[in-house]
Amino acid sequence: MTHFDVVVLGAGAAGLFAAMRAGQRGRRVLLLDHAEAAGKKILISGGGRCNFTNTGCVPERFLSANPHFARSALARYTQHDFIGLVRKHGIPFHEKTLGQLFCDGSARAIVAMLLAECSAAGVDLRLSHRITDLTRDDRFRITTDRGGFTADSLVLATGGLSIPKMGATGFAHDVARRFGLKLVAPRPGLVPLTFAGDLLALMQPLSGVALEAVAKAGKAAFREALLFTHRGLSGPAILQASSYWQEGQAITLDLAPERDATALLLAGKRARPKAEPKTILGEFLPSRLAQAMAALHLPPRVIGEVGDAPLKALGALLKAWRLEPSGSEGYAKAEVTLGGIDTAGLSSQTMMAKDIPGLFAVGEAVDVTGWLGGYNFQWAWSSGWVAGESA
Ligand code: FDA
Repeated sequence: MTHFDVVVLGAGAAGLFAAMRAGQRGRRVLLLDHAEAAGKKILISGGGRCNFTNTGCVPERFLSANPHFARSALARYTQHDFIGLVRKHGIPFHEKTLGQLFCDGSARAIVAMLLAECSAAGVDLRLSHRITDLTRDDRFRITTDRGGFTADSLVLATGGLSIPKMGATGFAHDVARRFGLKLVAPRPGLVPLTFAGDLLALMQPLSGVALEAVAKAGKAAFREALLFTHRGLSGPAILQASSYWQEGQAITLDLAPERDATALLLAGKRARPKAEPKTILGEFLPSRLAQAMAALHLPPRVIGEVGDAPLKALGALLKAWRLEPSGSEGYAKAEVTLGGIDTAGLSSQTMMAKDIPGLFAVGEAVDVTGWLGGYNFQWAWSSGWVAGESA
């Protein structure tokens, strides 16, 4: 068995960063992954342009059973530190919206940057290694289908359960459990929501319709784009709300943010009594949605002949449409995994397990999940960095 100071399992965003930082400190580092390429999720992220961080990254934009846990790592390696690294490598980028920073070109530039940094730090990267056993006595012993390794420190960076097609596994969760760490029940996050029955029948023909809306789940509200799909609802507003949604709960939609839908309908009735209701609705909703809402909630008459009461009821519905999803599209479509390794067992300063010296867990494997918009990569960089500082 070849010995290393540090073995990092998982060459995704968090693992590459942890390995890089440990290598920069002069540690002898092995970075192992079962995939044939490093950073595969980075390559598909942000529609191929990688939304690599967010200028407005603050701990309040992360979900965890311990909302304070992420604070320390995020403060020790900030979005500005990562932006500095991207600039150092001359990678052009831009802000798209809401502080979200994307590469001007391909996400490949970010992977190339991380691989270059790892290589400069002397990290030994080995791909296509299937881990078959992992034990600990005076050191960690890692057995793979291509040889065995020992290490003083082990960094678990194999991510969460989202997108199994891309190689996601519950490996980190299994290992954590085996070492006696607790788990917060994992569930899909940043995921499209599905509907059944009449709601699905309403939504299916609207597939492809998009509008700006406010989606609320629990106490969280997000004003962003909403998209109807053939299975229900998606778009950033829904993805964001999905992370706060619990099975069996309703979500609430405001389809006319900052507009008084009732007043608009009543004013339309007065100004253009011969118009069809869908035409008046179409002044502030996409036309297919306007048509569906009018057909479902108003009698088939010109708006002048529709009573104020149904117009007021529809106006109120458009501002606070309560609807209960039947589920979500699951890990196959979820951008992230909520829950994971319970932060109660980890040091927030170093990401090391409190009761298992030398064992670290970073990135999506841990019960810290960011909003949509570059927050999850920032968590990968920050948690990876602080682990690399101590491993
Ligand atoms: P990650 O999943 O990246 O890496 C884990 C690594 O471990 C992988 O290389 C995997 O092969 C390896 N591995 C898994 N099991 C193993 C095993 N048993 N043995 C060995 N290796 C194993 N976030 C963001 O901030 N901005 C964005 O633009 C996007 N966009 C985006 C798009 C899509 C489609 C998805 C699915 C996700 C995003 N995300 C995102 C989320 C982001 O990709 C995610 O939060 C990070 O990749 C998490 O980094 P990790 O390194 O923790 O896990």
